[in-house]
Amino acid sequence: MIHIEDLSVCYQGKDGPITAIENINLNISQGEICAVIGPSGGGKSTLLKVLAGIIKGYRGRVLIDGRKVDPKTHRIGFIPQNDGLIKWRTVEQNIRLSAKIKDGRKHIDRNYYLELIKRLNIQGMKERYPNQLSGGERQRVSLARVFLLKPHLLLMDESFSALDAITREEVRRVFLDVWKAHRVTTVFVTHDINEAIFLGEKVVVLSAAPGKVVNMMHNPLFGKSCSFTTGDYAELNRKLRKMLRGDQNHAASCI
Ligand SMILES: Nc1ncnc2c1ncn2[C@@H]1O[C@H](COP(=O)(O)OP(=O)(O)OP(=O)(O)O)[C@@H](O)[C@H]1O
Ligand SMILES: [Mg+2]
Repeated sequence: MIHIEDLSVCYQGKDGPITAIENINLNISQGEICAVIGPSGGGKSTLLKVLAGIIKGYRGRVLIDGRKVDPKTHRIGFIPQNDGLIKWRTVEQNIRLSAKIKDGRKHIDRNYYLELIKRLNIQGMKERYPNQLSGGERQRVSLARVFLLKPHLLLMDESFSALDAITREEVRRVFLDVWKAHRVTTVFVTHDINEAIFLGEKVVVLSAAPGKVVNMMHNPLFGKSCSFTTGDYAELNRKLRKMLRGDQNHAASCI
């Protein structure tokens, strides 16, 4: 369980402090997958960096399972916007390396490794280097890498945004399959409303800077493989789009 209470973060800009997020309150249950959407500059990446333990100078309380965030005690998997793969390591080395470093052990859970590369359909690419893969393949490798860590918390910052529409859909689906099999508590940031509707059990809408929670909803269309153009999808998309534009009256009626 993630508990965020009155979280505010200020950066020191050269013209004075910049409040990136302000008084955010949010609970994410064990095994839940939460999509965060919001305008550019609204503090989405800042929120993820606090959860990852990268930003430590914040106001408020951030607890994972009742304890202050600490990457040394919590296993946190972070997929940055660029896939974060090491270019001079093969696919196999990339996948296994972070689990080995995290555990300080020579061996990884081999059965789990084999299951992941099968599910993500990258068995045939183990000896290749990242620059010999397509964007979608690289994303699937970074998913394998992060799932192999068996994280308590998975954080993804616009992980699928660089992919073309077809590949993005395919990677989202594969991600959801692996996620369903292991139910890792996940927070992911996206600009893409359809992605939030497809992958977010809970959808959190942040305002423009400084980021505040404008709305939070349990998403009835989570994981539904219906077309993005069906009535329900289109309606929810329209509501979320209005919230993002800052139409507060409409937002309040949607919870
Ligand atoms: N290291 C920093 N120093 C100063 N200001 C920063 C720093 N990092 C971010 N900011 C500012 O904090 C605000 C929030 O930034 P953040 O990167 O969290 O936004 P975001 O919602 O992730 O935006 P985007 O959707 O464009 O990725 C922005 O105004 C940004 O300019
Ligand atoms: Mg960002």
